[in-house]
Amino acid sequence: MSETKIALVTGANKGIGYEIAAGLGALGHRVGVGARDKARRESAVEKLRAAGVDAFAVPLDVTDGQSVTDAAELIERQAGRLDVLVNNAGISGDMDPGWVQDPTTLDLDLVRTVVETNVLGVVRVTNAMLPLLRRSPSPRIVNVSSAVASLTRQADPDIEIGPVMAAYAPSKTFLNALTVQYARQFADTNILINAACPGLVATDFTGFHGPRTPEQGAATAIRLATLPDDGPTGSFFEDDGVVPW
Ligand SMILES: NC(=O)c1ccc[n+]([C@@H]2O[C@H](COP(=O)([O-])OP(=O)(O)OC[C@H]3O[C@@H](n4cnc5c(N)ncnc54)[C@H](OP(=O)(O)O)[C@@H]3O)[C@@H](O)[C@H]2O)c1
Repeated sequence: MSETKIALVTGANKGIGYEIAAGLGALGHRVGVGARDKARRESAVEKLRAAGVDAFAVPLDVTDGQSVTDAAELIERQAGRLDVLVNNAGISGDMDPGWVQDPTTLDLDLVRTVVETNVLGVVRVTNAMLPLLRRSPSPRIVNVSSAVASLTRQADPDIEIGPVMAAYAPSKTFLNALTVQYARQFADTNILINAACPGLVATDFTGFHGPRTPEQGAATAIRLATLPDDGPTGSFFEDDGVVPW
C-alpha cells in the first residue's frame, strides 16, 4: 500500500475547505478537491497544483446521491482507498435582514435545504466513502461544525454567540450529535471522527466579515484529520481545545 495519504475535502473550491485541502497537501497528502461546479473545481485544482499540492478533481454535490456515488467510484479508481474525509461543504441558508433566521417566522423549506446539505449531505458522503476509508490503516473523518452548534454556549447569556439562526445553528448541532453516533458505531474500529469549529472566518459565507483567515479556520480540521492512532474521537474541537456540547 502506498505511503501517501489520500484525502477528500468537500466544498474544497474556496474558503475554509480550500485551505484544508492546501494544508493537507502541504503535509504530503494527495487531495481530492470535492466541488460541485466544474469551473470553480478546476480552478481550485490548478491553484493547488501550482502551490505544489498533488490535487485531483472530484465532482461532488453532497445533496445528490448519484454525484456522491460517482465520487466514491472516482476515488476508488484514482486511489483505491481513502485515509481522510473532511466534510466541510456547508451553507447558512437565506438570512432575514440583520443576518438572522427568526424561529417564529421560519420558512420550513429553508430548514430542509440547510439540513439537506449540512447534515444529510455529511451522512450521504460519509457512508459512500466508508468502504474506501475502511481500507486505510488509520482513517480520519472530520465534520466541519461551528461554535453556534454549542447548546452550552447558545444558552449562556454571558457568551457572545452572534445572531439567532434557527436553521443554520441547529443544523450544526444535529451534525455534532451525528458525529457522536458515528464515533460510538466506530468504537471497535480504527476510525476516528470528530467535529471541528473554525471560528468566525472571513469567507463568502460571512460576507467576508470575521477576524480569522480561511487558513486559520482550517487549522483545527487539519489537526483532526492527522490525529495519531491514540487520538480522541467523538469530540468537538476548536483551536483552544474542546468545545462544550
Ligand atoms: N466562515 C465561517 O465563519 C464559518 C464558521 C463556522 C463554521 N463554518 C463552516 O465551515 C464550512 C466552510 O464554510 P466557508 O466559510 O468556507 O464557506 P464558503 O466560502 O461559502 O464555502 C462553502 C463551500 O461549500 C460548498 N458547498 C455548498 N453546498 C454544497 C453542495 N451541495 N455540494 C458540494 N459543495 C457545496 C461551496 O461550493 P460552491 O462554491 O459551489 O457554492 C463552497 O465550496 C461550512 O460547513 C460552514 O458551515 C464557517
